[in-house]
Amino acid sequence: MTRKAKIEKLIYRGWAEGEDLVTKEKILLRWALPGERVEYRFFRRKKGVILADLTAIVKPSPWRIKPRCSWFGRCGGCSWSNLTYQQELAWKEWVIREVFETVAQVDLQEKINPIIRSKRRYGYRGKTELTFSLDPKGQLVAGFHQPGRPDQVLAIDRCWLHRPIVNQALMALRRILPQTSLPVYQPRTGQGVLRSIIFRTNREEELLIGLIVENQEKMSLKEKRLWLDQFRQQLGKQLVSFWLIKERRRPGEPVEVAKEHWWGAEFLTEAVAGIDWPIGPLSFFQNNAEQAEKMIDQLRRWTKSHLASSARLLDLYAGTGFLSLPLAHLVAEVVAVEIDAEAVVLGQKLIQARKVKNYQFFLGDSSRVLTRLLEQGLSFEAVIIDPPRAGLSKKALRSLLMLRPQFIFYISCSPVSQARDLAYLIKKGGYRLIELQPIDMFPCTWHVESMALLRRQ
Ligand SMILES: C[S@@+](CC[C@H](N)C(=O)[O-])C[C@H]1O[C@@H](n2cnc3c(N)ncnc32)[C@H](O)[C@@H]1O
Repeated sequence: MTRKAKIEKLIYRGWAEGEDLVTKEKILLRWALPGERVEYRFFRRKKGVILADLTAIVKPSPWRIKPRCSWFGRCGGCSWSNLTYQQELAWKEWVIREVFETVAQVDLQEKINPIIRSKRRYGYRGKTELTFSLDPKGQLVAGFHQPGRPDQVLAIDRCWLHRPIVNQALMALRRILPQTSLPVYQPRTGQGVLRSIIFRTNREEELLIGLIVENQEKMSLKEKRLWLDQFRQQLGKQLVSFWLIKERRRPGEPVEVAKEHWWGAEFLTEAVAGIDWPIGPLSFFQNNAEQAEKMIDQLRRWTKSHLASSARLLDLYAGTGFLSLPLAHLVAEVVAVEIDAEAVVLGQKLIQARKVKNYQFFLGDSSRVLTRLLEQGLSFEAVIIDPPRAGLSKKALRSLLMLRPQFIFYISCSPVSQARDLAYLIKKGGYRLIELQPIDMFPCTWHVESMALLRRQ
């Protein structure tokens, strides 16, 4: 039986939400756009909502465009590239409004600025990771995980969101795979070697490769040479660094990761805000350098308008100090907290090289370091928070309230956890949301970043 629906809106996580034309039940599906009439196939019901597969578009949206990518609809990477960029931005703003109003009950009427658009809609991504797998014919392939199918990878040959050098590296990889005798790692048995491969790039189109393996003792010198020589031959001078990342997983034990610098420069650098940032194989770096520059501009504006030059600034979840090092000359002191040792080493090298005297790093978990800072009686006028997608733990939130900074700059790639945490800070800490600045770091996808400025009343 053909079921029909009309699509009403796009929501967080990239779903299109609509209503069955006959039963009036709520349905969620992918690849359809607001205003469209569609035909769908029932997939399953979850909490009273029909999860469906799109089978036909009966009446298309006037904002529908032909996606550039031939893998669109299967890969899931650029879920909104079938929509004009103007509309994509409008929906991102709308999603943030809805999340804030429903999760945090914050009426954003005058507080939300128009989203900052990305100059590039394609070719902006700085990091890519592909998983090795066997295709149905038993051939070794590397690809992206398919949405909803964590056990299957899609061996794409090109991605429009990546910088062009990554597509060249993909071509080189396709030539290497038939030549290698290394087996794919099998999580169930713990056997095999090849796990995944990471490509990191900068705006100069230079490339760092990290090959992630298990059971690395099975990787002979001949194999190592094959991978390195082939990539060097195919990529020439654009390949600047090669790392071998050895993982060891044993049931019930934490994953052990050891990095071996294999060839070339140790790191890539990306120039943002007048600083050459080192990018290692695993440490975090903002995925869209041009937009990250605009993030720093916004933080500079907030710092200049709200903080005195005598202020002390705390940067929790600091990475290499990316968001706070460009502000160090505007304040008296910066303390940065980061759990990843690679990022802290890179950040420390940077502050030494630049002779920044008022900046120090703490390696460790944010809430633990916060407790220590509180015990030492330290105080900060402002705190930058840029946590992973899950947001802040209850412990971190409670410690933050005890620290009582006057201002909080909360940056997040997850409006849901950001809205939840802001609701807590507003309710329990007497903070007020002054400004919310959405910024499109991830064009063509449903992901959206936002920066919140909070002030204690
Ligand atoms: C979204 S990134 C932001 C990094 C940095 N602000 C930037 O813009 O490059 C989040 C950072 O938090 C770090 N992190 C994750 N959990 C942490 C924790 N419990 N305590 C401290 N840092 C943590 C990660 O290693 C990562 O560098």
